[in-house]
Parts: sequence; C-alpha cells; structure tokens
Amino acid sequence: MKAAVIRKHGGPDVLSYEEINEPQTANGHAIVKVDYCAVNHLDIWVRNGLPGKQVLFPHILGCDISGTLVEGFGKFKKGDKVVVYPAIQSDVPRTSYSIIGGFGKYHGGYAELVQVPQKNIVKKPSWFTDIEACALNISYLTAWNMLERSRCKKGDTVFIWGANSGVGSAAILLAKARGFRIITVVSNENKIGLARKLGAHLVIDRSKSDVMAETLKHTKNQGVDAVIDHVGAKTWPTSIEILKVGGKMIACGTTTGGEANVNIRAFYSKEASITGAYLGTKLQLISLHKFMKSNKIRPIIDSVFSLKDVKLAHQKMEESAQFGKIILKVSR
Ligand SMILES: NC(=O)c1ccc[n+]([C@@H]2O[C@H](COP(=O)([O-])OP(=O)(O)OC[C@H]3O[C@@H](n4cnc5c(N)ncnc54)[C@H](OP(=O)(O)O)[C@@H]3O)[C@@H](O)[C@H]2O)c1
Repeated sequence: MKAAVIRKHGGPDVLSYEEINEPQTANGHAIVKVDYCAVNHLDIWVRNGLPGKQVLFPHILGCDISGTLVEGFGKFKKGDKVVVYPAIQSDVPRTSYSIIGGFGKYHGGYAELVQVPQKNIVKKPSWFTDIEACALNISYLTAWNMLERSRCKKGDTVFIWGANSGVGSAAILLAKARGFRIITVVSNENKIGLARKLGAHLVIDRSKSDVMAETLKHTKNQGVDAVIDHVGAKTWPTSIEILKVGGKMIACGTTTGGEANVNIRAFYSKEASITGAYLGTKLQLISLHKFMKSNKIRPIIDSVFSLKDVKLAHQKMEESAQFGKIILKVSR
C-alpha cells in the first residue's frame, strides 16, 4: 500500500510517500481503508519530535480518519463508512490518552490502510461527507469539549484565539450555534471577512490592534466569560488579563510554547479558573455529531491535498495559511 512514512524527526522533507507492507489483522482490531485524513497540529509536533516523547520509527502520522471497513465485526459490516475515535487509553502515568498516529504505538491515517482497536470505530453519520467526517475527530471534538468545560450559557461572551485554526474555527462555529457572543483573533486582514462569516461578533487583527485593549473596550472593561486558548505561551498572559471576575480559561495547546509568564495576582484577584482540555470522550464525539446535524453545521474545510502532496499540506499549516481544516485524500 501507499503511505507517507517518517523515519526520523524533522521538517516536512522527512515525510516520504512510498510503498510499504499492509497492516495485518489482529485480535480486537479492525482494518480501515482510509478515505480521508485531516491534518492537525499534532502531526507537526510528532514529525518535529518533542523532548521526552518517543516514536518508534518508521512511523505513520495522521489521527483524524474517515474510511471504509475492510472486514465486519459485531454490528459493523464490511464496507461500512466509519470514523476512528483517536484516543487510546494511555499507559503513560498521569496522561489520560495517547492518540492514534500520535506519540503512541499506533500508526495513523497517512496510509491506505490502518489497523485500529475495534472499540475506536464509530459509524460515520450520513449527514457528513467523507471529507467532512474526518475533520471532526480532533479539532471539533476538542473545541466541543472546551466549550462544554467553559460552562457558558446563551448570551455569554467567549474569546477564541486563532479563527483560522482547526480548533479556533471549530470553536467559533459551535459557540455560535450555542448562542454565545464571540470575540476572535486573526493575524492579517484577509482572514477578517472569513472569521466574521463564521459568526464572530468582533474580529481583532493582531497585526494591527492590541488584542487586550480591543477586548476590554468591546466588553466595557468587564472582560469575557471564557477564553478558548490553544496557542500557549504567547497568549496565556492576555487570556488571563481579559477574563471577567469569575471567568474561565480553557487551555488545550502550546503552539507558541509550553511555559508562560502570567500575572498571578490578576488571576486570583478576579477568582478566575483555568481548565485543561484533552480531546474529548467517544460519547462526546457522538453528541457532537448529533449537535452538528441538528444545527445543520458543516465543518470548515480549507483544502484537500492528495497524500503524495503531504509535504505541501504540512507547509501550509506551518505558515498558518489555511482557514479551517486541511485534508489529505488518501485512498486512490
Ligand atoms: N489538547 C488537545 O486535545 C488538543 C486537540 C487539538 C489541538 N490541540 C493543540 O491546539 C493547537 C491548535 O491546533 P490546530 O490543529 O487547530 O492548529 P493550527 O490549525 O495549525 O492553528 C494554529 C493557530 O495558532 C495561531 N497562532 C500562532 N501563533 C500565534 C500567536 N503568537 N498569537 C496568536 N495566535 C497564534 C495561528 O493563528 P495566526 O494565523 O493568527 O498566526 C493559528 O490560528 C495545537 O497546539 C494543537 O497541538 C490540542
């Protein structure tokens, strides 16, 4: 089968599109023909390598899979359209999950066939196309979990970093459908219109405006009910400053680094809280599917690349040139 394999950590050039052996059937596992696999920032972390995180080479990236079952099992039949819930119970102490195609032992969806535990197979909802379905298992599920953890109610104001990102664009769409007021951020004026179209009430261009000042002005100095922060070191200080009294920051990522210098006094004096979010459960994925269907929400797809052009897809994400999900078409 064809796959994009990495044999060492590094830039997009370590991705090699080549012929490799097919995975074998194994007890309690299913083989899925991968139709589409979304690109996530996790793929870049794994490709680059992170201190203390191990990968067994050769490794296949790709955690966001929609595909077709090669053999039936239980209630599933051969040929069923499915998605793969990406979390595997972690064997690393104090970490809840490892992720298929991530730093764990499972190969991911940058390959025509993938072997995954049967319990990770979820029926693809017919409301979504195969392309859309692969976009939901990571960014949308995490955004959904973060919004649930925010405990925001209709009319509350949520601040969402990075409108163009997978997590950010998902959070805006889902927050809009829940009736929240949305403030979001972009890095250039080309993205402003797209962010507004998604449903943001205020879009701040961080290349031109001071994000904290604009947010406080817009909220009449009250601050926001919740902040969705997937950016990390560079945004945590602002995220804490713009929370209102009793506000909540929900954090899931470290795109700009994992160690932040924050104003602790500002944090405790307004009795704010910070909550972590790590993906979401399989049940949350199923309720996300139902919520999106009943609210007629389709994920935002930026572009579809063929698997052999995976390097270009990674470059696009590293340049933050996308708006929404970048997808790989895997099976020919
Ligand atoms: N905990 C979990 O379960 C979980 C799940 C999914 C994702 N994540 C993490 O969440 C993060 C986002 O993932 P993704 O796939 O959505 O990434 P992505 O699509 O590559 O988006 C990255 C975003 O970061 C923004 N950004 C970069 N530097 C910034 C800065 N200095 N200030 C403000 N914004 C900045 C970019 O916006 P600009 O264009 O404005 O630069 C872009 O919107 C990653 O770190 C990922 O690992 C975690």
